Amino acid sequence: MTSENSRLRCTCQNRKQLRFNDDNVSTVSSREQEKVEQSVDEAYETFKSHAEFEPSLPELDRKQHCAFLWKGLENLSESYDCLDASRPWLCFWILHSLEILGEDIPCEIASRVAKFLGHCQSPDGGFGGGPGQVPHLAPTYAAVCALCILQTEEAFKIINRKKLQEFLFKMRSEDGAFNMHEGGEEDIRGAYCAATVARLTNVMTPELFDCTPEWIVSCQTYEGGFAGCAGMEAHGGYSFCGLAALILMGKAKLCNIKALLRWTANRQMNFEGGFQGRTNKLVDGCYSFWQGGAFPLVHMCLAQEGDKCLSAERWMSHQEALQEYLLICCQHPWGGLIDKPGKPRDYYHTCYALSGLSLAQHFAGGKLAHKYVIGSPGNEVKTTHPVFNIGVDAVLQANQYFKNLPVPSPENAGDS
Ligand code: FPP
Ligand code: ZN
Repeated sequence: MTSENSRLRCTCQNRKQLRFNDDNVSTVSSREQEKVEQSVDEAYETFKSHAEFEPSLPELDRKQHCAFLWKGLENLSESYDCLDASRPWLCFWILHSLEILGEDIPCEIASRVAKFLGHCQSPDGGFGGGPGQVPHLAPTYAAVCALCILQTEEAFKIINRKKLQEFLFKMRSEDGAFNMHEGGEEDIRGAYCAATVARLTNVMTPELFDCTPEWIVSCQTYEGGFAGCAGMEAHGGYSFCGLAALILMGKAKLCNIKALLRWTANRQMNFEGGFQGRTNKLVDGCYSFWQGGAFPLVHMCLAQEGDKCLSAERWMSHQEALQEYLLICCQHPWGGLIDKPGKPRDYYHTCYALSGLSLAQHFAGGKLAHKYVIGSPGNEVKTTHPVFNIGVDAVLQANQYFKNLPVPSPENAGDS
């Protein structure tokens, strides 16, 4: 073993001590956990035998990932039929993955994607899951983020801001919660999607989010994480949405940030190194972002409060262990990233595994930035904005473009 890869956690002698202990009570979930640990163990053992001869491992297989992503932007197999109502999501997952990998989008492709997303925009404002589909907050978030990633004037101009704001007001309930679509479910994703698109396109008004922070805080559970709505189970996806939305509204102080931090830190798996989405569930590559993304946000909140215990160099997660899980257990041999060993590749997991990898590699606190890139130095990926989850440059460009346009108000119908 060379000195280079012997620094990796997964090559340590006492690694097996980190395995799950069922305290002699075998259950369906304890057996599932053991099975996953077995497959992760096999991936780490295989890696160890290769790494002995190649000190620069693990390596991010950029070439294969990019090939998988570029192919998906042009053509999707029949297995994607079930995502016919998530077409803006596919654009976002693919464009954001390419952005993290540092790929440039040629003008002609950017224009085609922008026009396609334009076809998904509803005349009533917001975006649907495909052309002619009803507007929905989730594809609206995906479409606006995808258009911002493109960073072209054509893409920015697609968004009908006046109508978008009207759509957001229509989705709002009196208590500050947001329906995902007309007559649809009300959950914390709605508040995050609404706040993100309102902020990115500069259509935010105080009335739009009146009472929303209080509604979001009602979703924080006794465990510390946030649930989809009050009384339900804490989950990483909803926790990210809750905290990021509170930050966008400047109200993060209303939640119990230390309880959220404790819960999130405990969702990083001892043996696997990746995150689970909720207590007693299995590791999954996508939570590298949904859970891993909470650390930069929590850091930001605690720094604002002047917390003296904060590190000036690291997030409060095990950034290297997460990278090992992602690079050793979550890279599909044909390109794309996955949930856990043995699972098929898909664009959702590719996007969120890469987003999590980016946050694990890059620490940024105030003026200080530190990099923790495991494996080959060529594994370094671009930074992603921890609140919006699009490139930091894309956020700056969108801000630059939209800040000069007036915030529409219900009285100024017709402005955009
Ligand atoms: C459980 O799936 C998943 C959820 C309860 C919701 C997850 C929410 C997100 C990923 C956030 C979405 C955010 C936006 C912006 C739309 P499961 O039971 O299959 O997985 P698990 O066993 O890992 O919990
Ligand atoms: Zn997943």
